Amino acid sequence: MISPIAFGLPDFPWDRIASAGERARQHSDGIVDLSIGTPVDDTPVLIQQALIKSANAPGYPTAAGLPQLRDAWVHWAKRSTNAHLSVDDVCPLLGSKELVAWLPILFGLNATSIVAIPELAYPTYAVGALMAGASYVTYTDAQSIPDNASLIWVNTPSNPTGQVLNAQELRDIVERGRALGAPIVSDECYIELGWEAEPISVLHPDVCGNDLTGLLAVHSLSKRSNLAGYRSGAVMGDPALIAAIVSLRKHAGMLMPFPIQHASIAALGDDDHVHKQKEIYRARRAVLQPALVAAGFVISHSEAGLYLWATRGDNCLVTVNELAQIGILVAPGDFYGPAGDNHVRMALTATDERIQAAASRLMASAR
Ligand SMILES: Cc1ncc(COP(=O)(O)O)c(C=O)c1O
Repeated sequence: MISPIAFGLPDFPWDRIASAGERARQHSDGIVDLSIGTPVDDTPVLIQQALIKSANAPGYPTAAGLPQLRDAWVHWAKRSTNAHLSVDDVCPLLGSKELVAWLPILFGLNATSIVAIPELAYPTYAVGALMAGASYVTYTDAQSIPDNASLIWVNTPSNPTGQVLNAQELRDIVERGRALGAPIVSDECYIELGWEAEPISVLHPDVCGNDLTGLLAVHSLSKRSNLAGYRSGAVMGDPALIAAIVSLRKHAGMLMPFPIQHASIAALGDDDHVHKQKEIYRARRAVLQPALVAAGFVISHSEAGLYLWATRGDNCLVTVNELAQIGILVAPGDFYGPAGDNHVRMALTATDERIQAAASRLMASAR
């Protein structure tokens, strides 16, 4: 008798806001959906062209990816995070979610293993632990990581809170993980979107002291290059851990299609589109943030990343339903852990026109 893993996993929580979505869709000027962080701006043309140019791809790609792609990540990491890496320290991914979900299995975790995840976190860290049959515990700082942790997830800048960990906080977590012999994996997929704080990578020399042992950083092209539909990211760091990941991904057939590899090389070689996209998000944030404050919200953290993490002091579902009345759909904070009970998460990934509509409705509703 088989027992599919999927049946033991939590349901996708979005069903819980289905009725709020229905309500928001009835607004005379249409819904403003800020509940999911999916990019809405075009994929830059130079990336589309690189994809088209490499459409002829009869052979199999390798799990390790093209050396030119790994090299492009090495150069990107040097420019964007000051990490000193070589091509053997990088493995391309089919988007970062793939690694987040599968890493506990790739590392051989099992029913005796404990995965430490941030108190408020992207749900896939917990799902990955459960897929491996392991358990997870939440932590708030290095001291609260339990002695029996087998793997430690870090997420800076954070989804959902936008919190950025500073170099000392990261050093403390690295020290704790190394003392426990637990790999520290830092999900840094929003690292290029700092607003009021400068995000720093776990692989920055000020954090790791140029010693990659036990450390991995996970990156993504989804948000910085409007490439979520292509599925492209990378994991980088300790070459021994990377070799283990590449080896199992080879067996499991997790191979990045050649056209996506070439598109990713083009994306990583161009910083211009990233700066332009960042300014677009900065402008949307500048429209939404004061409107939220005028409507009685307090914005917590949100110093980086693609979300505003906001509260009016009420339970998150009360706020979700109130905002649905004015046609705005947001994510309840408890999707990300019980500590998010009184917050909602609003994505900046809507068109300028929709963000402006949300701001106007919030201002009009100011209480
Ligand atoms: C914190 C975090 N990690 C990973 C991902 C997955 O991104 P992708 O698989 O598109 O790289 C997301 C997506 O929203 C995220 O918020």
